Amino acid sequence: MKMTEDEFRRIYRYVKLRYGIDMTKKKEIMTGRLENFVTAGGWHSYDAFMNAVEADTTGQLEKRLLGMLTTNHTFFMREFEHMEYLQKVVLPELRTKEAARRDLGIWCAAASSGEEPYMLAMQIKDFFGLDHDNWDTTILATDVSTEILEQAVRGIYTEEQIASVPPQWKRRYFKALPDGVHYEVVKEIKNEILFRRFNLMDPFLFKRKFHVIFLRNVMIYFDNQTKQNLIRKIYNSLEPGGYLFIGRTETIDRTVAPFQMIQPSIFRK
Ligand SMILES: C[S@@+](CC[C@H](N)C(=O)[O-])C[C@H]1O[C@@H](n2cnc3c(N)ncnc32)[C@H](O)[C@@H]1O
Repeated sequence: MKMTEDEFRRIYRYVKLRYGIDMTKKKEIMTGRLENFVTAGGWHSYDAFMNAVEADTTGQLEKRLLGMLTTNHTFFMREFEHMEYLQKVVLPELRTKEAARRDLGIWCAAASSGEEPYMLAMQIKDFFGLDHDNWDTTILATDVSTEILEQAVRGIYTEEQIASVPPQWKRRYFKALPDGVHYEVVKEIKNEILFRRFNLMDPFLFKRKFHVIFLRNVMIYFDNQTKQNLIRKIYNSLEPGGYLFIGRTETIDRTVAPFQMIQPSIFRK
């Protein structure tokens, strides 16, 4: 089905306004992702589909639209040097600094299908070892797409997906399912994560400030203005001395928030 320029504009404005996702130069990708669904649903045009999205008070169609338009690509061990930095520098520092409260604020802000927050939970658990039970290190893991979060909560991956995970983590933190091809993250790790839907475009009304924020590989979908507003909000929601991790191919404009750069993708308030 052909998407007219007007229809394209209507859809990219809709997702940009609500979710910051900038698809102004991605007409082909957009059509590719929506075409089958719109045709199968019996809508005779993208306009008709968008009318249905806007009229649907249950929000289900919008959820589907978002599920199709977000890029959720992620994988275990991605940019693992961040986890190593956490292990070597950040966690030892926090263990000393927060020795009295024993409560860490960690937010994984574009959690996708869960690989990143699960890795974080495994790293933190290993770091604290036997002392882990004496600490609250619950990770808040959020994403705008409910569909991808449902997968994250299930925590079930194929053998291929977990192939790069170190053997000791595979043994300790995954259990093989009876079908012989899937592995599920163990309860002990699942319990360390609070999965919630959250749109980064919304005001940050968190009760506490965070020691660590992972905001990796999501800003690439936003335009500059959106990124700048987001970085300001992220800065304000970090504890003094708190750390921000972004994707290795991403950058931030430090004129909008006075972050100290530790490495090109690691920043400190
Ligand atoms: C490419 S994935 C990155 C996953 C993981 N952080 C990583 O680095 O592998 C980008 C994620 O950002 C989410 N996302 C896009 N726009 C968002 C928004 N406005 N608020 C929250 N999450 C958003 C998408 O749903 C997607 O799951």
